Amino acid sequence: MDQRFIINGGRRLKGEVHISGAKNAVLKLMAAALLLDDACEIHNVPELADVYIMVEVLKSLGAKVDYDTKEKKIRIDASELTSHEACYELVSKMRASFTVLGALLGRCKEAKVALPGGCSIGERRIDFHIKGLEALGAQVKIEGGYVIAKAKKLVGTTVYLDRPSVGATENVMIAAVLAEGSTIISNAAQEPEIADLANFLNAIGADVNGAGTSEIVINGVKQKDLHPTAYTTIPDRIEAGTYIAAVIATKGKAVIRNIFPSHLSAVTSKLSDMGAHITILDPFSIEVSCGKSLNAVNIVTQPHPGFPTDLQSPFMSVLAVAEGLSVITESIYENRFRQIGELTRMGANVQQEASRAIVKGVKSLTGAQVRASDLRAGASLLVAALIAQGTTEITGLYHIDRGYEKVVEKLSGLGADIQRLNIPESDINAKINVDEIYLT
Ligand code: EPU
Repeated sequence: MDQRFIINGGRRLKGEVHISGAKNAVLKLMAAALLLDDACEIHNVPELADVYIMVEVLKSLGAKVDYDTKEKKIRIDASELTSHEACYELVSKMRASFTVLGALLGRCKEAKVALPGGCSIGERRIDFHIKGLEALGAQVKIEGGYVIAKAKKLVGTTVYLDRPSVGATENVMIAAVLAEGSTIISNAAQEPEIADLANFLNAIGADVNGAGTSEIVINGVKQKDLHPTAYTTIPDRIEAGTYIAAVIATKGKAVIRNIFPSHLSAVTSKLSDMGAHITILDPFSIEVSCGKSLNAVNIVTQPHPGFPTDLQSPFMSVLAVAEGLSVITESIYENRFRQIGELTRMGANVQQEASRAIVKGVKSLTGAQVRASDLRAGASLLVAALIAQGTTEITGLYHIDRGYEKVVEKLSGLGADIQRLNIPESDINAKINVDEIYLT
């Protein structure tokens, strides 16, 4: 049954919210667990649609997966893999499953993984992944919509990435764990999720150094050196940033718990420029508040430690009601402004000029019927709906459910008036496009 959110906006969010484990970290740890011919446990796993898809991918390869949603932990036993092929039906549902390429190649020395293809936010090429795996000694070809990679053995080398791609850094790092000798990834992505993956790999016996900087060194180890572990993943900085956006946009005051504040420094620096207040309460909590109108600011999305592209859309909703003119430049994806049309329907004044969005702050937004076109565009609509006067109906919720665990409960806990309702069979308009393929 398709669903929609009904949100009555205009309430100041207050209270506290507990942030879940990081989607974009956990999915990669799950893929990396394939390196181990034994079982391991991952803790702090959020209950999200994407995690369920990754469970299916791992099962399709022969891993035994036990997902305990109550305890938020997942046990993966990859001791007996039965396949090295990840099929299109699963990979096309979620691009992060492409990370099994590096793990299968490292473990089995062969892998056949469906090409994830482009997606609604951009072309999303995989040339750096392939170049990196080839540099390690794999023969890689693309045939029938699949990447087919084989190697007699993988040998460490220097892999320079033309840009610090998160996914390519992860695939090469995972594949290099069982390579002979040392691999250096130069111009590596520095996102906290990369450091989390390296910490997980080290916890199972790998030898990875420098993750979180632009140069990562992986000293190859033998399969017999890998061992079981129980590992707790990092908090989701993008979920945290989305709640921060919602709190300040509604001129509220809230404590954001279970975060690493240092992961959000680009965001908190912008918050200060906007006139919001941020107090670090303890190593895992901050308080954010905003009692008055926010100032307009310019934002340029960049690889970490720059402002994250995944928070560009929710912050556009905040700036839509800030005082003055803001310019948002999206430098990571070609097509990540899909929220603009819907925000405009809610009364925002945003003009797109190529990779820039010019946001002229308005006094307030008004509720409307809108549709989420991708995960973070959906987050942008949520924030806009919480600000807006009147009622907003959001459809396309499966996008939002990919990245925000228990979003209704968490927003209600902050005092929002939000409900999730089933869409009646007769409501044809709300159901249009529900079968579109989503991939972010
Ligand atoms: N790129 C290439 N060639 C490559 C790889 C990437 O040209 O071989 C380009 C892409 O087309 C894109 C840019 O480089 O324009 C950045 O891509 P990157 O590889 O860094 O991103 P990703 O690994 O595909 C992850 C997150 C995204 C997040 C980006 C950037 C996961 C599952 N996804 O994607 O998260 O936006 O890093 O931080 O980890 C989201 O959660 O909403 C989301 C899209």
